Amino acid sequence: MSKITLTRYLIEHQRKNPQFTANLRLLIEVVARASKAISHAVNKGALTDILGEAGTGNVQGEAQKKLDVIANEVLLEANEWGGHLAAMASEEMDHPYFIPNQYPRGGYLLLFDPLDGSSNIDVNVSIGTIFSVLPTPEDKIPTETDFLQAGNKQVAAGYAIYGPQSLFVLTVGDGVHGFSLDRELGSWVLTQPNMRIPEETKEFAINMSNQRHWAAPVTRYINELLAGSEGPRGRDFNMRWVASMVADVHRILSRGGIFMYPWDKREPNKPGKLRLMYEANPMSFIVEQAGGKATDGTRRIMDIQPEGLHQRVAVFLGSSQEVERVTGYHAEAK
Ligand code: AHG
Ligand code: MN
Ligand code: MN
Repeated sequence: MSKITLTRYLIEHQRKNPQFTANLRLLIEVVARASKAISHAVNKGALTDILGEAGTGNVQGEAQKKLDVIANEVLLEANEWGGHLAAMASEEMDHPYFIPNQYPRGGYLLLFDPLDGSSNIDVNVSIGTIFSVLPTPEDKIPTETDFLQAGNKQVAAGYAIYGPQSLFVLTVGDGVHGFSLDRELGSWVLTQPNMRIPEETKEFAINMSNQRHWAAPVTRYINELLAGSEGPRGRDFNMRWVASMVADVHRILSRGGIFMYPWDKREPNKPGKLRLMYEANPMSFIVEQAGGKATDGTRRIMDIQPEGLHQRVAVFLGSSQEVERVTGYHAEAK
């Protein structure tokens, strides 16, 4: 059986689903091609001038790494001229980038976290790119407000992970499929079709150093996991924390688990650390398509009506039974 490339997967998906447009197919191909370029840059590391600080800050007040800026540029340049997009928004840009008038405009909005896990770039630990696609009317010049659609409106989402292998993981609402970068062919090849998250898990991911700042339901849930076989759960749990959401979510898609970045008292006015529109929503779409769940402790993340492009959100996602349990603890605490 010949290899199924991303191109072939998309063409066959389009043939079976006429509502899946040629422009959406092109968009995904372009994002995948840009991810390939980012993967190559990541691989070169210190051999070229891509490591270290950029010396600038983003809208979140975070210091930008050179690779944050490079990955953002690669995605903008790859996507501006194809005619498939109306605008793009990114973690690294205060406001959306509207497609210049010299190019045709398409009916989609692309949002991305160009480089997720920035703190891991310089130490050679897995990082990634996260993206989300929303529809927009083709005949209207878009505004920033057009981006403020709930995650349940997404028509595609995915991530590329730059780890020991580079993978492109995609959903267009028809399950979750993983494609490995074959560097000899220069193609993304389907290697993980129909990724599913087991309902049950023995593994959790949270930054434990924030424990003293958590709210009561999170403390209760984690304490029960830590008590292991001697506690109410009656079994031992294992912990992992990569500090790249892409890597932690990819592990959960591969072997189950729950990922948490809850609200905490360090910055009480922010609902959480992660960003709704280009981190939590695309990852929630993927996790749900793989049979898992994603909430902010109270609501399904994909049903949250966004109020700002860079809005933050608390995140609990992964194996459904665990997400239900910790979400239930929040409900009981009210
Ligand atoms: P980014 O590099 O895009 O800013 O995202 C980093 C995020 C996420 O990938 C990860 O799960 C989390 O920040 C790690 O946070 P801590 O350093 O607080 O553990
Ligand atoms: Mn990120
Ligand atoms: Mn980032």
